[in-house]
Amino acid sequence: MAKAKMLVDKNFKLAEVNKRVYGSFIEHLGRAVYNGIYQPGHPAADEDGFRKDVLELVKELDVPIIRYPGGNFVSNFFWEDSVGPKEQRKPRLDLAWRTLETNEFGLGEFAKWTKKAGSDIMMAVNLGTRGIADALNLLEYCNLDTNSYYSNLRKSHGDKEPYNIKTWCLGNEMDGSWQIGHKTALEYGRLAAETAKAMKEMDHSIELVSCGSSSVDMSTFPEWEAVTLEETYDYVDYISLHNYYGNAANDTEDYFAKTQDMERFIQTVIATCDYIKAKKRSKKTLYLSFDEWNVWFHVMASDSEAMKRKPWQIAPHLLEDHYDFEDAILVGLILITFLKHVDRLKMACLAQLVNVIAPIMTENDGGAWRQTIYYPFLHASKYGRGVALQSIITSTKHDSSQHTDVTDIEAVSVFNEEKDEVTIFAVNRSVKEDALFESDLRSFEGYHVIEYLALENDDMKLTNSIAGEKVAPYARTDYEFQDGIFTTNMKKCSWNVIRLGK
Ligand code: AHR
Repeated sequence: MAKAKMLVDKNFKLAEVNKRVYGSFIEHLGRAVYNGIYQPGHPAADEDGFRKDVLELVKELDVPIIRYPGGNFVSNFFWEDSVGPKEQRKPRLDLAWRTLETNEFGLGEFAKWTKKAGSDIMMAVNLGTRGIADALNLLEYCNLDTNSYYSNLRKSHGDKEPYNIKTWCLGNEMDGSWQIGHKTALEYGRLAAETAKAMKEMDHSIELVSCGSSSVDMSTFPEWEAVTLEETYDYVDYISLHNYYGNAANDTEDYFAKTQDMERFIQTVIATCDYIKAKKRSKKTLYLSFDEWNVWFHVMASDSEAMKRKPWQIAPHLLEDHYDFEDAILVGLILITFLKHVDRLKMACLAQLVNVIAPIMTENDGGAWRQTIYYPFLHASKYGRGVALQSIITSTKHDSSQHTDVTDIEAVSVFNEEKDEVTIFAVNRSVKEDALFESDLRSFEGYHVIEYLALENDDMKLTNSIAGEKVAPYARTDYEFQDGIFTTNMKKCSWNVIRLGK
């Protein structure tokens, strides 16, 4: 039988979980903005045209930071077209997704929307077709309260107070040949370093993210990190990681093993950062921003076809992956992987938030609904705040078609000292066996089980829709908690959230 033993000890602290690991992403892509977060005329729209049904779901997820406006979109984005009186805004061709951008919704609207959502903005600058001057103009427009051109321009557009955007990405996926204005590592490193220096000269309060690799499978990984950081290390605070996962081979066992690749990715980036740190005799430690991650594969092929056949549409249905039960399990595994690295991983963005590879979907003529992946993200965001404890766990293992020594159980725990609560997040990724899970929580004296939530199903391909949620968590009661030892039979292919409190 598969089994695992986990020691959860309040004294073995890994690091504080930065709430920004529960960030997300809104790109001008498909129906993320138009008919997603913004749809004037929809019965649920508020006075600004923002969909209240979507805002409610976003607020439920409690997303502390949202990356904007791309993604690939940002690499030919002319932000000036997206501000000022709407009737004067210019429509533009978006080459990344071959759509027509009306610019009806822009920077000012997004700043207003994020306020309503209770989130901060992570803003990306265009280092594809533009450069230092444009990044500075944008920064002045967003953050400065000076009697100068761009600061005054924002005020003339009705926003007296600066947006005070703290976190800025220096371009997007500049290592990718698909990127408009793609660069070699040295070209990017030089441009990013000079842009960073100038931006920090203008606003000392900002923090910057240098572009890392677009996936662990890029042929330039990890040389890209080493070469670019050699240039940017002194001027930036984070390096980005992006990776999407999929089960195109329909091999669930191997799909669930893919967080091993993510582990390798994270560890290699940390090692590369520390190599540059050592080389530069630097005292500064660089942190990781996994600012694009998710499952993305269901509609990839049909999307490329649609972009070829029917270009220059406004808000077409693109990247609308309809997630199933096994995707939710993988998302749970990814979140556990993040929590095991919060000593270096300080930000992460679930890509994306609404309609585009998203936990939240909308009907143009109807309501909003939760995809399967909504739930593990919700649980982690709600209960995964506090101090991540070191994962001391032994588990039985198996091999999958492409991976070896895959642990049956993956688990991590987070101690919220303020609330006197501790939560265990666990996945049984065995597709064959239930597992006996035992956790020693004796250091949490006087604690009791608040609830044990689980996502379980035998049908890996089950999905949710506007008609109803076939995949939703339920409360389990068949566990034992005696003398500080928690025991349960963890179902095969399951996501488990065990919450204890005083
Ligand atoms: O999130 C979808 C796309 O994936 C982003 O635009 C790009 O950065 C990545 O390749």
